[in-house]
Amino acid sequence: MMRKIAVVGFKGGIGKTTICVNLSAGLALRGKRVLLVDTDTQSNVAMALGVTNYTYSLADVLSRDVPLADAIIPTRNNLDIVPGSLSLFKAQQRMVMEIAREEIFFNLFNGTDDYDFQIFDCAPSLSLLTINAMYYVDEVFVPVSMEMLAMAGARQFMTYLRQVSRMLGRSASIRLIIPSFFDPRRKVSNIIMTMLKEDFGKRVTPPIWVDTKLSEAPGEGKTIFEYAPRSRGARDYTRFTELVLKMRPVRRNNHR
Ligand SMILES: Nc1ncnc2c1ncn2[C@@H]1O[C@H](COP(=O)(O)OP(=O)(O)OP(=O)(O)O)[C@@H](O)[C@H]1O
Ligand SMILES: [Mg+2]
Repeated sequence: MMRKIAVVGFKGGIGKTTICVNLSAGLALRGKRVLLVDTDTQSNVAMALGVTNYTYSLADVLSRDVPLADAIIPTRNNLDIVPGSLSLFKAQQRMVMEIAREEIFFNLFNGTDDYDFQIFDCAPSLSLLTINAMYYVDEVFVPVSMEMLAMAGARQFMTYLRQVSRMLGRSASIRLIIPSFFDPRRKVSNIIMTMLKEDFGKRVTPPIWVDTKLSEAPGEGKTIFEYAPRSRGARDYTRFTELVLKMRPVRRNNHR
């Protein structure tokens, strides 16, 4: 059964893209077929995987200019992406006018069930694309960086998600809270870990530690497993990948 996951959070720079890229890479290395979709105008996913030259992006698919298959780029064994682009701004504006637009990913991604995972990287905003991605997926992962404001952002996000779910009649389930930028030397890291566990209990994963290798890898267009396979970051992401693989898949049954 294919698992559909969105990595979402309203704060910028909390590690969403890093999680998407390295989780996707980790799953691909374990033989899972992964489609990683970039819904962000910054198009960081393609960059991080060293894909610099492409013709079509998710924006062209959303505008119905090309079928999804034309925008899919194979990047590694088992790891395909649909890149983002600046044109997603315009595609999104057009989407505002559409009827039943929350169905858009169900329609456009119809017939792509041969992947084991579809993973959506989202922009740090309450955009229509983010909402529609959350409507499409079965699981939402929320990174929280070790800052008080990020913690506040996570709480706001939960409230918002409940409202959106009620509005759309389909609730996205928050399956994992991923502590990112963990630094044991900073007291705030431990404080936030405690707060997260109080708020979210078992859904909190072991933290991803701060590791400069993780910030250098995308500049080289490499995953952490390629750039620094023996690093702390590679270890954290190996463990995280295994955790995701062990989870029981959920399927929301209030749709289709
Ligand atoms: N654990 C980590 N240790 C050190 N640097 C990291 C770590 N995780 C991510 N980074 C770096 O921090 C920056 C922000 O991370 P990332 O791009 O993944 O965040 P984001 O939430 O996707 O940002 P945006 O909201 O802009 O999309 C990047 O330069 C990334 O390489
Ligand atoms: Mg990002």
